[in-house]
Amino acid sequence: MTAATPRVSPVTLDRVSVSIGGRPILRDVDLAVRAGEMVTLLGPNGSGKSTLVRTVTGLLPHTRGEVRLFGTLLGEFAEWQRLGFVPQRSTATTGVPSTVREVVASGRVGRRRLFRPTSGEDRRAVEAALEVVGLAGRSSYGVSQLSGGQQQRVLIARALAGEPDLLVLDEPTAGVDLPNQQALADALASLKARGATILLVAHEIGPMMPLIDRSVVMRDGRVAYDGPPLSQEVASHTHHAHDHPDHLDHAGTHDHAPHVASPLDFERRRR
Ligand SMILES: Nc1ncnc2c1ncn2[C@@H]1O[C@H](COP(=O)(O)OP(=O)(O)O)[C@@H](O)[C@H]1O
Ligand SMILES: [Mg+2]
Repeated sequence: MTAATPRVSPVTLDRVSVSIGGRPILRDVDLAVRAGEMVTLLGPNGSGKSTLVRTVTGLLPHTRGEVRLFGTLLGEFAEWQRLGFVPQRSTATTGVPSTVREVVASGRVGRRRLFRPTSGEDRRAVEAALEVVGLAGRSSYGVSQLSGGQQQRVLIARALAGEPDLLVLDEPTAGVDLPNQQALADALASLKARGATILLVAHEIGPMMPLIDRSVVMRDGRVAYDGPPLSQEVASHTHHAHDHPDHLDHAGTHDHAPHVASPLDFERRRR
């Protein structure tokens, strides 16, 4: 299926809670990312952004509520080739050493027919993705020879190579210099122009700002804001919003419960 197929929301969370080791991490999260939208997920460290995207991508079980991908409950979802995911930390070096090209090409696996050799189209997608992250000249390097920032770019290229309908990125610009941030923004713009949906956890929005349709701010495992795009400066004010709660909660759909501070909230904000 292509990105042009019906306007079902690629991501829907309905009152989703996640606990890790009995500790509540996400609480009653409602979120819908509509087809073709680019949504940024903002919020302080430890507010639950990575937990949310790991839940959406099926890496972490939720304890309550419903998660749907393209309208299908997560447990029944099978079209994983439609999803691209760039995790927060590099995992590219674990296990057998691979070259940059191999890791990026692995992003095509979901697109290929079983037992068919790599097609010209596969090779073109891999080259284009390497070009975008500025690693075309290093495609035969071992991933372990690269710096942390370069390894992150390999993971971005792998996700782009899969030409996903839904791309989820967790802080992809950490350790990426401005020219490469611009290149990433260009790549996301062309994905978006094809109708792809993008959910981006980001600290530095930088050159991506014009692409953003909506911002969601997490605080203490809850959605504290869901509305028009916020700059990083404004979003970082939400760190201090405990003293001025009326800055937040414009969410409309998230007004079911007032925020109740618990000792866990303070423990969670240690960092
Ligand atoms: N695997 C885990 N085990 C225990 N606690 C976790 C785990 N993953 C995340 N947490 C906790 O959940 C909270 C939210 O973390 P996270 O989703 O990584 O936040 P963010 O991405 O917004 O910085 C933090 O308090 C963190 O310590
Ligand atoms: Mg995180």
